[in-house]
Amino acid sequence: MSKYIIRGGEPLSGEVSVQGAKNSVLPILAATVITSGKSIVHNCPNIKDVEITIEILKCLGCKVERQKNTIIVDATNITNYYIPQSLMNKMRSSVIFMGAILARLNIAKCSYPGGCELGARPINLHLKSFRHLGVKIKETHGYITCELSKYKPGKINLDFPSVGATENIMLVSSLQKGRTTIVNAAREPEIVDLQDFLNSMGAKISGGGSSTIEIEGVESLSPVERNVIPDRIMAATMMFMIAATKGELTLKNVNVSHLDSVISVLGECGANILTENNKIHIKCPERLKAIDIVQTMPYPGFPTDAQSQLIAALCTMKGTAIVKETIFENRFNTAVELTKMGADITLNDRVAVIKGVKSLHGANVKAPDLRGGAALVIAALGAEGDSEIDNIYFIDRGYENFDGTIRSIGGNIKKA
Ligand code: UD1
Repeated sequence: MSKYIIRGGEPLSGEVSVQGAKNSVLPILAATVITSGKSIVHNCPNIKDVEITIEILKCLGCKVERQKNTIIVDATNITNYYIPQSLMNKMRSSVIFMGAILARLNIAKCSYPGGCELGARPINLHLKSFRHLGVKIKETHGYITCELSKYKPGKINLDFPSVGATENIMLVSSLQKGRTTIVNAAREPEIVDLQDFLNSMGAKISGGGSSTIEIEGVESLSPVERNVIPDRIMAATMMFMIAATKGELTLKNVNVSHLDSVISVLGECGANILTENNKIHIKCPERLKAIDIVQTMPYPGFPTDAQSQLIAALCTMKGTAIVKETIFENRFNTAVELTKMGADITLNDRVAVIKGVKSLHGANVKAPDLRGGAALVIAALGAEGDSEIDNIYFIDRGYENFDGTIRSIGGNIKKA
């Protein structure tokens, strides 16, 4: 099964429950190796990246059991501190295991993650922070070995609020003697979720969600049972889908405040959005008007992970929009595919200018990456005629039963 076949133009309407957050479940599952015993994680989405994370956990010696959306990790017997290249290549964010393995065993080894669809994706900030904390790092033949004999607590100033680097520092420092402070930390909700997970294990971490995080090391941690937060990017994807298809949708199981920037952009475009507790209702019965300018920013700014989906919806709005990508250098590959469907997009380095056309037409296109793939599905659902979207394994990395969810609200989509 490698492509989606979509007939556009069906009005979408209904109710969808938002899956657990991909970007929370990965560091939380990595965090389970930090201590001996059985941790239970609920609300895990059934996606490819979680399958790969389970493979890594097993490779490290954990026993892993999966019951629907619950994953039970028994990390009592960790037999390995090494993540082979084959697994690192499948999911570059597996670098997050470095901090957790180091915390548990004082040694960790993985292959260098290298570049990916979104650009170079270096890990210099992770390594610089580790060094600052006393970790000795050897880089040979594409492999990185980290060893910790004497931890040096203190203050780390991140040059950029990297999500992964912030998580790695939290993981490695939570079990070390002394106080570690992260300045210019990432403020994403997934950081708060990891903080809450580690604190429920007995860690003493505060400040998650702000740009200064304090970690007071503790002597031991214990396994726990916790839920993962809802996936704000999946929710945003569905909202842009409704904008592009002129539909109506209620999203359940959402943390509304995590979606403030997305709600504000769509509200400015004229979408009718109502929020209550953990629900969002969005209605877009007619063509929306393009927003002047949006730029991606670290949280609480507009998320880079929703930029492609925004562009897909902007293609058919009234007027011209400018979208600036400030986080990843290679995130406009989707725009090239969208032009095959009749979109009018001009690219200049990190800026895309999208002139709204009345409608898109179906075409054969290729998903360039995970979110770009979802964006093409959005465009195809709003387009006139049939589209084929290839490389949908990218989409399976982050969306649970994406086509089934879309069919449940009236979309004409099937796998072939
Ligand atoms: C996480 C998310 C990803 C999201 C991204 C930004 C997970 C599993 N993935 O990725 O979906 O798009 O945050 O919100 O949570 N950088 C460096 N050196 C480093 C680390 C990062 O230069 O050592 C740069 C990156 O190349 C990128 C920017 O910093 O340009 C942001 O990266 P980062 O916040 O680290 O993203 P990830 O944690 O990889």
